[in-house]
Amino acid sequence: MHRLRLTFAAVSAAVLLGGQLAFVGSVSAGAAPPAAKPSPPQAYPADSLRALAARVGLRVGTAVNMDQLGTNEKYTQITAQQFSSVTAENVMKWAEVEPTRGNYTWEKADQLVAFAKKNKQLVRGHTLLWHNQLPTWLSSDGYTTTLSNDEVKAVLKKHIFEQARHFKGDIWQWDVVNEAFDDNGQPRQTIWYKAWGGTGYIADAFRWAHQADPKALLFYNDYNLEFTGVKSDAVYALVRSLKAQRVPIHGLGFQGHLSTQYGYPDLTNNLERFAALGLKVALTEVDVRTLTKADAVNEPVDALAPYAQESYWSRTLKACLAVRACISFTPWGFGDAYSWVPGVFADPQEGAALIYDEQLNPKGQYDVLQQDLALAAGAPRR
Ligand code: XIL
Repeated sequence: MHRLRLTFAAVSAAVLLGGQLAFVGSVSAGAAPPAAKPSPPQAYPADSLRALAARVGLRVGTAVNMDQLGTNEKYTQITAQQFSSVTAENVMKWAEVEPTRGNYTWEKADQLVAFAKKNKQLVRGHTLLWHNQLPTWLSSDGYTTTLSNDEVKAVLKKHIFEQARHFKGDIWQWDVVNEAFDDNGQPRQTIWYKAWGGTGYIADAFRWAHQADPKALLFYNDYNLEFTGVKSDAVYALVRSLKAQRVPIHGLGFQGHLSTQYGYPDLTNNLERFAALGLKVALTEVDVRTLTKADAVNEPVDALAPYAQESYWSRTLKACLAVRACISFTPWGFGDAYSWVPGVFADPQEGAALIYDEQLNPKGQYDVLQQDLALAAGAPRR
């Protein structure tokens, strides 16, 4: 009896890890479960991205739109079945959690954390400090504020402690600081930069986050770090100096917002050089946009563009797979209908940036990720 219970536990563990075939085989060779007993529910398919990624020790994540989760059935099912990590696309941003000063609204973020627990997913917290999506009582543009420098310092400290403590123990990776450098590699002259009179706010933010939640992995997150150049070099210099000062920074997030019009970056080189500083690295917001039609924003102008996009997705994932320190690969959502791209990159129009189409059917971009993960795990293709 005891042996049978253990066997059942092993089967459900194996199913959750996506490795049920081997375990199911060993069960039938030993004590077969009685036919009447229902088999444990299979949380997700063996050929899902999350199951395949588990076999190579990688988490595949997605940004989650909380207007869809729980109400859109297909969206909710894909989120649960395909991904082993979730990021709040918006609901953990400052404007969302403290819209009026001193009144915290954690409900939507809490719902996401509960969903993640239920579905055995880890959570990327996004983000504690940014210049965008700030509450209007603090700043309407991220660069100006009616608060004094001392007040700005005090509210940032309070915010980081309140939020990191609220989610303490539930966050795997926190994006502590998001996008602190501009495209020329200069520190952005944000309200944070101005209040501190320099980039000293960054070290403080990491120290406070670490005090508030000592077990979370703390990340600096930014875009265009995939390309070697002034911005990537500036962030590299900053992170190296933070490490030298023993600031608790554990990871570097490469957002990975790519476009076929700018060419594929030397991502592997950049993942490697940041990892060599003793950091974890992660792809945190991947999408691959291409030029699309003005009246059909997810329809490429060039019928061959999807092949270029597939190549970018495949190379981005393989770059992460090739670097041991790369612990997660997160597309910025999965369905083209919900992507931020067409609304923001509209001149010229770009879109079709994700791995499922507008009806939530997997695209060729999904297939290449699935095939790459299966190959990496030494498993046969679908
Ligand atoms: C975007 C969201 O996807 C949009 O819904 C929102 O309107 C604006 O922000 N870099 C980041 C993300 O770090 O937080 C941004 O998300 C995309 C760019």
